[in-house]
This record gives sequence, C-alpha cells and structure tokens, in this order.
Amino acid sequence: DMMPLIDPFARPITYLRVSVTDRCDFRCTYCMTEHMQFLPKKELLTLEELDRLCSAFIGLGVRKLRITGGEPLVRRGIMDFFRQASRHLGQGLDELTLTTNGSQLARFAGELVDCGVRRINVSLDTLDPDKFAAITRWGRLAQVLDGIEAAKRAGMRVKINAVALKGFNEPELFDLVAWCAENDHDLTFIEVMPMGEMGEEDRLDQYWPLSDLRARLAERFTLIDLAERTGGPARYVRLSETGQKIGFITPLTHNFCESCNRVRVTCTGELYMCLGQEDRADLRAPLRASNDDAALVAAIREAISRKPKGHDFDYSRQTVAGQVSRHMSHTGG
Ligand code: GTP
Ligand code: 5AD
Ligand code: SF4
Repeated sequence: DMMPLIDPFARPITYLRVSVTDRCDFRCTYCMTEHMQFLPKKELLTLEELDRLCSAFIGLGVRKLRITGGEPLVRRGIMDFFRQASRHLGQGLDELTLTTNGSQLARFAGELVDCGVRRINVSLDTLDPDKFAAITRWGRLAQVLDGIEAAKRAGMRVKINAVALKGFNEPELFDLVAWCAENDHDLTFIEVMPMGEMGEEDRLDQYWPLSDLRARLAERFTLIDLAERTGGPARYVRLSETGQKIGFITPLTHNFCESCNRVRVTCTGELYMCLGQEDRADLRAPLRASNDDAALVAAIREAISRKPKGHDFDYSRQTVAGQVSRHMSHTGG
C-alpha cells in the first residue's frame, strides 16, 4: 500500500508534525494557561508506538518529520526516539527536525546532530531577560541562549521563531534582527493565532500583522523575496544589507492553506488534519489494536480524505473569528 497521501484539495501530504509530550518547562502566555493540567503519562503514545506511527507515515510518503510538544526535549527517552527515527533519513525521509524552546539544548545538541538533525527551530520572542521571564512565566533567557550556542557549536543551523506581539516585542524588532545577523541565525516571525482560551480583547490587542512588520523592515533594509522554501509555511526574504534570511508566517494577513502539505499528531495519537480546525482522528486505537499496520494505515487514509480546506482564523472585523479552544501546546503549532 504505497499510494501517496493526497487530500481532497489535491494537496500531497509530505510533512508530519508530531507532538511527543503536552508538558513544557515554560508556560508561554499565548500557548498555555499558568496552571495547565497535564495528561496522565499512560495516555501518551509510548516511544515504540511513536516510532510505528512515524514509520507508517513515512511509508505513505512523508518526507519531513518535525518533533514538537509541549517541549519535546522534556520527554523521557526522547533521544532513543530520535535515534530510531534517524534510520529513515535517506530512506524516504529528507529531514528530521524539531521545534524547541531551547531550554534543554545545551544537554542534547550533540546527540541530536548524531541523529542526523541538521537544523532546528527555537522559539524565542524577546532578548530582554525580564520580558522573557514574563512571557514564559518563569523561563531563564540565559539558559536558552546557552542552548542555542551549544546547537551552533554542535553544527546545527538555528532558526529563531518569534511570535509577533504588538506592544511586546514590537519595540525590539531591530534588536532581534541585529542579534540574528550577528549570530548567523535565520529568523521567522509568526502571526499570533487565536488558540486556547485567551480573551478576545487581549488577542486583538496583541495582534501585530506581519504586513506592518514587513513595512517597518523595508524602511531600513532592502528586502529581496526568495523563492526557496523549507517545506513549512514560511515565505522568506533576504536583507541585502546584512545577507540574513527572514521568514514570515502569516495565517492572518496572507492565508497559505492552499499549499498546505502537513498534518499533526498529538502525544495521545490524535491526528489533526488542520491546526485551525477541531476535526481529528484517533490513531492510538488502531495502533494498540494490532501489531499489523493495516488498520493504522486505513485510519490515516480515511482521515486525510476529510482534511479541511483551511483554518477560519480572522481578526479583520475587530473581533476574533475561527478561534479553537485547544491550546497550541496540544498540537505543537
Ligand atoms: P520549517 O521547517 O523551518 O519551515 O518549519 P515550520 O515553519 O514548518 O515549523 P515551526 O515549528 O517553526 O512552525 C512555526 C509555526 O508556524 C508553527 O508553530 C505554527 O504556529 C505555524 N504553522 C506551522 N504550520 C502551520 C499550518 O499548517 N497552519 C498554520 N495556520 N500555522 C502553521
Ligand atoms: N500563535 C502563533 N504561534 C504560536 N506558537 C505558540 N502559540 C502560538 C499562537 N497562539 C508558536 C511558538 C513556537 C511554535 C511551536 O508555535 O512560539 O515557536
Ligand atoms: Fe512551551 Fe513552546 Fe508553548 Fe512556550 S510555546 S509554553 S515554550 S510549548
């Protein structure tokens, strides 16, 4: 059964994002509540189940695998998972990577490189230690910066993910850009999406459209649009003055669902066909029902056959539309 996965809108599904834990050592305010109730460990897919699941998707044509959380590096034994997954590299899988908050990178960078991870995305919204502690609710910036350095020393390319937040990192735009240029990091900005149970007003207050951010950059730099993509939703420019690469992820100002190539699995084995919709399919039951993958593959195909056209996020009428109540930490973005 090698027919590739194609959804109802003729989009090939080649990118799988897997959340390996709902836990995190931070509590970013736009991602989790302060007193988040975490799942009992027995609900989680085991590392063996995660491996079977990823292998099945790779057998179905997935070429890019991104591990997320919560914070993926707080999952016990996660390096065993990476080591196993690395056997697929060059055997169907083009890229094995992760999105991390960076807090554990100093410890794991070397092993990640050994497992074939060449490029990582690190979430970092501010370079001010006090603001960092506030947005993560207690995170230590220095620990994350050490982690990023360790990743670079170990030989990985680092992309910084910053959620664009008006009145928060807005005044820091050029500092972030300069710091990334100095340290040779790529940088991607993300429009804040209405997920979780944050109030409508707070969301509208914090929303900073990237069309505006981009215009501000263009006042100081020459922006060259790049055709190259990384397989994710970001569109990139190069700043000709510094040579650095900057990405924009614009679910609100420029919907990119038309070219969606991805689905996501939660740490309990639920397959979400779209980040911005609630529809999902249980893959844990078929995984646990049999050691044979036939039922699992059938469940995946059935789910892909109902992948929706896109999200319904919209702030343009001065209200928040299309909100999903699930927290971002559930599906890992
Ligand atoms: P690259 O491999 O560097 O292209 O990574 P990526 O952008 O695919 O992964 P990353 O984890 O850095 O994703 C950044 C953020 O983009 C996610 O956390 C989400 O907030 C957003 N994002 C990723 N995929 C989608 C998507 O399908 N829809 C929407 N609306 N947002 C997405
Ligand atoms: N909107 C946009 N991006 C978000 N992230 C977390 N919550 C949101 C949100 N509500 C980002 C994180 C991280 C990535 C996995 O998702 O900052 O970089
Ligand atoms: Fe943790 Fe990442 Fe969510 Fe922040 S965005 S709370 S670092 S999972």
